[in-house]
Amino acid sequence: MTNIVSHHIDRFQGESRVPGDKSVSHRALMFGALSVGETRITGLLEGDDVLATVLAMRRLGAEVTRLDDGTWQVFGCGIGGLAAPDDVIDMGNSGTGVRLLMGVIAGQPVTAVLTGDASLRARPMERIMTPLREMGVAFAAAEGGRLPLSMTGPADLMPIDYPSPVASAQIKSAVLLAGLAAPGETTVIEAIATRDHTERLLRHFGAEVRTATEAAGAQRITVVGQPELTGCAVRVPADISSAAFPLVAALIASEGELRLPAVGTNPLRAGLLETLTEMGADITRANATVAAGEPIADLMVRASKLRGVTVPAGRAASMIDEYPILAMAAAVAEGTTHMAGLAELRVKESDRLALIVTGLKACNVDVEETEDSLTVHGTGAPPAGGATIASHHDHRIAMSFLVLGTVTAAPIRVTSAETISTSFPGFQDLMNGLGADMRIEDDDKQDQGDSA
Ligand code: S3P
Repeated sequence: MTNIVSHHIDRFQGESRVPGDKSVSHRALMFGALSVGETRITGLLEGDDVLATVLAMRRLGAEVTRLDDGTWQVFGCGIGGLAAPDDVIDMGNSGTGVRLLMGVIAGQPVTAVLTGDASLRARPMERIMTPLREMGVAFAAAEGGRLPLSMTGPADLMPIDYPSPVASAQIKSAVLLAGLAAPGETTVIEAIATRDHTERLLRHFGAEVRTATEAAGAQRITVVGQPELTGCAVRVPADISSAAFPLVAALIASEGELRLPAVGTNPLRAGLLETLTEMGADITRANATVAAGEPIADLMVRASKLRGVTVPAGRAASMIDEYPILAMAAAVAEGTTHMAGLAELRVKESDRLALIVTGLKACNVDVEETEDSLTVHGTGAPPAGGATIASHHDHRIAMSFLVLGTVTAAPIRVTSAETISTSFPGFQDLMNGLGADMRIEDDDKQDQGDSA
């Protein structure tokens, strides 16, 4: 176990490229494996979650190689052409990895057994099994619709129209990926639009994907089945969900200016930028362009005086992974920040809502929760800190409290911080390079573990 202690600093400044987008990285590997010919991926996130997807694609017969210059090369097997895996596929901590993989395997007439770490084995999979069963996939899962599970793709998959009961890009993506192997058209209907990386990248690989907006913001997303996907070049944007950590550190510092190059700014992911701007954050964009169908831009950030705001439930899907770090910004802001529509936070890598509340209270912040909302009362000054935060193997909880520790009077200690490498390898070095003071705790204190 690695514990990290984050000490107070005043200036946070400089320029740094954060690692590649996790969502796009998983998809680039999977779509490459479903394509014919060569795919070359630059900027792939080399975090544990994505490396689990690399191993899964190899186990299904795709050739995946890291070249000397850091480019990842994939030679795929085509839709329906993946091989039966000869062993259990372990997706580690990755909910996105396993759920998208279920959609990929649904379209192959093979049997696969999937599992993950303790956190992933506690997360709901029924939400993916329900639509895939409708398409003809057979499942046997652990109690409560959890991993480990075994699945067998049918010889003839059926296309469906599926109104998704949860605003989840993972559900949408699993159904669309299965739909690639079905004849005719498969449609997902979403009441609230979720991140559309699958749609954008599938088009980039040559699939026909249509999106129609209906009344009240609902969307119908349709994939035309049995296309030939062709290997291509994918440049992965820097991950806005990782950029969020140095970005908020820069905003809450007393002084400093930060530049984060080539960050993905997909509007369905950029809810945090909108919210922070409403809070008074000085964030500007430059060099806007498009890479592999995804908008990217450099983000420039200056230390800012933040104020509390109300974040509407309708924005939750566009910043679902950013509530832990937003809660830290809210703890430093002046006034009350209310965040609604957070039920999904309870079934992420941990019950994030509960961990945010426990951790902030331990740092002396006035905070309230309901089943699906969070209210943080900021005073306009950094909270006391001085707490030990048990990360419960949740990378975003760990990084969020380490960022808060850059401004609290007393240091914040985070246990099991090795979990950060699932999404942000090199986090501590990158943050320290910009002025943070995050130190790995001496070995003799490491066993004073997950107590908070
Ligand atoms: C993701 C979708 C989100 C997000 C996850 C990545 C994706 O989950 O929390 O980190 O890549 O599709 P849900 O769509 O299930 O909320």
